[in-house]
Amino acid sequence: MVAKHILLLPGDGIGPEVVGEARRVLEWVSTNSAAQFTFDEALIGGTAYDATGNPYPAETSAKAKAADAILLGAVGGTQWESLDYAVRPERGLLAIRKELDLFANLRPALCFEALADASTIKREVIAGLDMLIVRELTGDIYFGEPRGVTKEGNARVGRNTMIYADWEVQRIARVALDMARARGKKLCSVDKANVLECTEMWREEVQKIRDAEYTDVALSHMYVDNAAMQLVRNPKQFDVVVTGNMFGDILSDCAAMLTGSLGMLPSASLGAEKNGKRAALYEPVHGSAPDIAGKGIANPIATILSAGMMLRYSFGMAKEADWVDAAVARVLEKGLRTADIMQENATKIGTTAMGDSILSALEQVKNNNHKAA
Ligand code: IPM
Ligand code: MG
Repeated sequence: MVAKHILLLPGDGIGPEVVGEARRVLEWVSTNSAAQFTFDEALIGGTAYDATGNPYPAETSAKAKAADAILLGAVGGTQWESLDYAVRPERGLLAIRKELDLFANLRPALCFEALADASTIKREVIAGLDMLIVRELTGDIYFGEPRGVTKEGNARVGRNTMIYADWEVQRIARVALDMARARGKKLCSVDKANVLECTEMWREEVQKIRDAEYTDVALSHMYVDNAAMQLVRNPKQFDVVVTGNMFGDILSDCAAMLTGSLGMLPSASLGAEKNGKRAALYEPVHGSAPDIAGKGIANPIATILSAGMMLRYSFGMAKEADWVDAAVARVLEKGLRTADIMQENATKIGTTAMGDSILSALEQVKNNNHKAA
């Protein structure tokens, strides 16, 4: 039996609702596999600030370091937008990423066949799409110094710094090249090397790692403006894309629309392996959606798929991870939809009903799997 300790960080807005459904999926896996999961919960984001004055309290940090894997909902909300930067909900998320050194952010964009008509983009452009964005998550302009707003003479001056060290580029390049090697052996590195020296260095370092260690992977380079256009023009040209923190933030929201809805995109944020253990945080790419929080209508699929990524990347449970993906596909094929992916002739259901449907699909997938074996 494999015992694993999972920390749940529901966060703000719809976070608790979607994490609640993903927890039920993980509990089902615990009951129906050789693994045994235990759960703990802690505060992060605006709710953590309200309770403790800190969006990433010390207790949460201690629990995060002790966990085998972390599942996070979302942070943020309009009521916290006027707070000082240092204590905004988003700082909580950035703090946990930085503290656990979760530098490798995997954001797969997969278009489920049943949703190929749910996107604002034409079916033929996105049907069958299966790509992976690898976003560097602990560097770049997000963390660069100097930063802030100062008074210089008569002017207010706002400043942020785009900065990468060669080793930061090299380690994310290796993660992306490993992923590409396990998939279609094609990697596209995205930068703005025609204008920004920092990203010109990025391009050179990625190329060096590829030439020295990964000659079996085809590497191309693309400017970020062109990449944004290519993502909506012909996304299926991409297999794995690697890019810095800020470009990755923007391009991954864009890629989300290729899958039907932002409510469909899971993510994994991984640290370096240390003593056989790798810190890992799983979260949906979407935000806290305060406008629909507490209404029971949020789409829990991105969070459930994130739990699936946890099974795959942290626990080595590929079979069970496949079950989760298959259960989601099955529910979508049956025409069950939350409001964000609603289509003509489909059945609109809420958050809990979507969780229920995925759980019963899991039973079916597991039984079919056993019959086939
Ligand atoms: C994301 C989010 C975060 C980011 C915010 C909430 C800090 O947009 O995970 O993509 O910018 O990284
Ligand atoms: Mg984002």
